[in-house]
Amino acid sequence: MAKPDQNHVDDYSFSDTKGVFPLIVLEEVESTSDALKHLCRAGDARHGLALAARSQTRGRGRHGREWFSLPGNIMMSVALQKAELEFHAQLSLVFGMAVCRYLRGLMQSPEQLVVKWPNDLLWQGRKAGGILLEAEGDFLVVGIGINLLESPAVMKDEAVSLQSSFMASAVAAAHYAPLRQAILEAYGIWGKHGFSPFHETWAEFAFRVGSEVRVRQGDDVLTGCYDGINADGALCLKTDKDRLCIAAGEVVLLEGNG
Ligand code: BTN
Repeated sequence: MAKPDQNHVDDYSFSDTKGVFPLIVLEEVESTSDALKHLCRAGDARHGLALAARSQTRGRGRHGREWFSLPGNIMMSVALQKAELEFHAQLSLVFGMAVCRYLRGLMQSPEQLVVKWPNDLLWQGRKAGGILLEAEGDFLVVGIGINLLESPAVMKDEAVSLQSSFMASAVAAAHYAPLRQAILEAYGIWGKHGFSPFHETWAEFAFRVGSEVRVRQGDDVLTGCYDGINADGALCLKTDKDRLCIAAGEVVLLEGNG
């Protein structure tokens, strides 16, 4: 793994009302989340520390998938004080909404940017970003990947970049500090009030509530009507027989639905 301190090109500091959070920007790293986890293990992290990179050589997505990290895109991870594992699923939604809200403020047709449960950011139905939550010792590491300028050619029609609708600076580094701030604020609200404020606003962000979807859970695939989320952030699915709430899984779009 690249050693952050040996590959350190910039070190911005960002002040907010609660203090100064360092923001490390690396030229190239295998994965910003791995590099930040390395700092957590070494005892060099604290709440709010963020690490971004201009390029990643082994970016990771959920389920061990490769994350295509193209130049000009946003690749950043933020260390937060740990939350229990049982809350990670709802935090994925909390951070997805926080990132979505921030980006919407910078876009034309902002309502076309939505969150697909549990962690995908979709622009006009195609993947434009994602959130990866991982625990490391006393920290929760939030990895944020956004296709700001480029979308991977190998993903063809599945992925998209935000460039065409972006009204603000399309320089990734301009968004590191405000995105980190959005994450910290959302985490603060969640810490104080729990999931309920996010449950209330989910409908503003959610992709395809009311549609037929398939939800993959391990080897099982369930089909039904997406009936929103419950108070814990689990996806609710109305099937022929039942209404199920699924805490962890992945929504797969049905043919002709994406
Ligand atoms: C997903 O949609 O599966 C989550 C993608 C998360 C990608 C980001 S890019 C910054 C951070 N570093 C990584 O290796 N992954 C996350």
